[in-house]
Amino acid sequence: MSFRRFVLALLFSVAGWAAHAESNRVEFPADLDKLVHYTTIRRGEVTEHILTTSEALAAVKNGQPIPDGTHFVLVDYRDGKVYRYFVMQKGPGWGNDYDEVRRTADWQFQWFWADESINMDENTARCQSCHTARAERNYLYTFDALGAFDGAAME
Ligand code: HEC
Repeated sequence: MSFRRFVLALLFSVAGWAAHAESNRVEFPADLDKLVHYTTIRRGEVTEHILTTSEALAAVKNGQPIPDGTHFVLVDYRDGKVYRYFVMQKGPGWGNDYDEVRRTADWQFQWFWADESINMDENTARCQSCHTARAERNYLYTFDALGAFDGAAME
């Protein structure tokens, strides 16, 4: 390959990678206020409410797989206002959109701003890479709080 072609190939692969930063299959949950707030995490000025569906909560309690379509939402509040939403959603075969190295089973990740628009500057491979450490717990950091949830969101 000539140097020029090499540079072009490199540019295209970088452009291809950047394209992954854009929208994927995750949709902003239409029923956000129906989701259950099962735990709260505070980090300095940031308060995080973690939400999911009552069906997902029941599934985890009963040792069943989390149903397709399930959303998990981390609502990031700063100064009492929503700053952003981190969303994970699962769907049938969604893992096939990514190569094996990146894949987080059938979960996909997205960053939405307070107005529900996608943060196009984020590469969600970063989300997947960190959540991979939790592969044994459905890729969830707050998995244990799901099982412990008794109807009142833990602080
Ligand atoms: C460096 C590691 C890291 C990265 C990168 C990361 N997360 Fe997380 N995520 C966490 C941790 C840790 C928690 C538990 C909440 C906490 O401790 O703040 C969490 C919690 C969540 C939750 C609540 C469900 C759960 O797993 O408990 C969602 C949804 C979520 N993250 C989505 C995202 C999205 C979307 C991105 C990318 C835009 C992302 N995360 C990037 C570490 C990470």
